[in-house]
Amino acid sequence: MQSPIGVFDSGYGGLTVLKEIVNKLPQYDYIYLGDNARSPYGNRSFDTVYHYTLECVQWFFQQGCSLVILACNTASAKALRTIQQNDLPGIGTDKRVLGVIRPTTEIIGNFSESGSVGILATNGTVASQSYPVEIDKFFPGLKVYQEACPMWVPLVENNEYDSHGADYFVKKNLHSLFDKGENIDVVLLACTHYPLLKEKIEEHLPVGVKLLSQGEIVADSLSEYLRRHPEIESQCSKNGRKVFYTTDATEDFDNHATTFFGEAVQSIHLDLDSQ
Ligand code: DGL
Repeated sequence: MQSPIGVFDSGYGGLTVLKEIVNKLPQYDYIYLGDNARSPYGNRSFDTVYHYTLECVQWFFQQGCSLVILACNTASAKALRTIQQNDLPGIGTDKRVLGVIRPTTEIIGNFSESGSVGILATNGTVASQSYPVEIDKFFPGLKVYQEACPMWVPLVENNEYDSHGADYFVKKNLHSLFDKGENIDVVLLACTHYPLLKEKIEEHLPVGVKLLSQGEIVADSLSEYLRRHPEIESQCSKNGRKVFYTTDATEDFDNHATTFFGEAVQSIHLDLDSQ
């Protein structure tokens, strides 16, 4: 039986990734779930992020999905590996869960001439060390400098991404990043919310530094994955439909979704406790 591709995030941020996936692969059906009732995940412990993410991944499988994308850096950093190694074997050999970190770390070094890259992310993603560890597998010797930007998600979620407050925090975190690594010539937005701050970040970036967002990278990688895995691709339904679920109030989700996804959506409320 064919089924939609599941796309998961702690809240709205994954919609920036889904937007690029749909642009690249409009033919597939998608179910998006934002765990808004329990977001943000960025400051939560490893165990909490793992349990929340696993619960949501299991829900996708109950909906019939064979392939789930964790369009959330924090969930990819703290839960993906355990789910892939410990949980999936018991759930079903035909089920797949992919994250956003691997596709990015596979190519980031190709953009750098200086050999130094910067990662901007949540506290949780930075503390997990996932980026330095994964990048080292593909680009040994590449210097990786990280900066946690805990104020950026609340700024975006409160529609303050174009404000003077946003200028202050963007400048503060970029200064701190470039104090650590002066030669950085590539900066990655390793959090799904940060593309909303892209213009502000570009204003304050040193000249010549490249800024990478993950949406397009993840979309290209998914397209390639489906090409290489016809056994998974053939299980994905293709009617161009998108359905959106949130674990919190739908009105709030729908209002924010327009900003993150670029088009109006009508979400459905999901009560995970009643599942
Ligand atoms: N989606 C999260 C990420 O990409 C950011 C929001 C949160 O902290 O839950 O890391």
